Amino acid sequence: MTTAIAQAHPNIALIKYWGNRDDGLRLPRNGSISMTLAGLHTVTRVRFDPDLELDSVTLNRRPAAPADRERVVRHLDLVRSMAGASDKAEVVSANDFPAGAGLASSASAFAALTLAAAAAAGLDLTPTDLSRLARRGSGSASRSVFGGYVEWRVGQDDESSFAEPIAGPDHWALVDLIALVGTGPKPVGSTEGHQLAATSPLQETRIASAERRLAACRRALLERDFARLGEVVELDCHLMHAVMQTCSPPLFYWAPASIAVMQAVRSWREAGANVCYTLDAGPNVHCLCPADSATEIGDWLQAVPGVSSVLRAGPGGPARLLDSQDPLTALL
Ligand code: PMV
Repeated sequence: MTTAIAQAHPNIALIKYWGNRDDGLRLPRNGSISMTLAGLHTVTRVRFDPDLELDSVTLNRRPAAPADRERVVRHLDLVRSMAGASDKAEVVSANDFPAGAGLASSASAFAALTLAAAAAAGLDLTPTDLSRLARRGSGSASRSVFGGYVEWRVGQDDESSFAEPIAGPDHWALVDLIALVGTGPKPVGSTEGHQLAATSPLQETRIASAERRLAACRRALLERDFARLGEVVELDCHLMHAVMQTCSPPLFYWAPASIAVMQAVRSWREAGANVCYTLDAGPNVHCLCPADSATEIGDWLQAVPGVSSVLRAGPGGPARLLDSQDPLTALL
């Protein structure tokens, strides 16, 4: 095969990855756990062609910015070296979630690119191999290879650092209500953020206690214990943002409306609702709740001043190859 198309979903980290032991290989300082997000897609087509002189990369119907193109080319180089191939590629990729919503798209982008490029290059890889390879493009992409609830184990080296499912999408009908709060401060990308993490005096404390939180999160997910899940998810989010805010230079990802949503969620919980929040490297607030209360809580979120809209995503499936007739290819 020389052409392949793949789709992948983004994911929301319940226990966060922040900081690498090895930036080049993207070996993390700590393990992480996420939920793969249904209904939000990246679709990517890769075509290797001996007549191309250069790799071409189109993202959301525009030629990729130089830094984005370079990152994709580096990933293609990895795939080419595994396949013993040298043909250049045409890469076309698009997301169906709102551009500029500040949702991390590198997880779905590199999971879809890995799957499409490996298939187009004729590599026969296991899901574990794909996760390990996706990790090299973006750490969180290692988790988007799988559906449902996923853990990326910290590992010792390239070989042992990959993600695996904890439970499938049907295990627990949680919903991520993503409160979009418009633009926060100009974001510093996560690649740069990971490199700054070690400058925070709090990072070692966060790392030293990460295994405890991973165990608590794993257990809460397996036992479908929302109260314990919410406690550890919020604690872990606060710890990561404390590290971000105390690194040098400090990174503040929150907007005033992010804080308004966090406060609202806490007050709804005090009044008895099952809801908790987490934020990645951006101002939007991911609010988790059981599916049966998602409509009501979504309405409450929409009414918080500063919230422009609310996206809703349940647990999604794994990254997968698409045939050229699949309706999702219309995105490209
Ligand atoms: O995969 P990256 O390099 O974009 O880093 C992801 C970082 C966070 O989204 C903040 C946390 C996570 O575990 O997804």
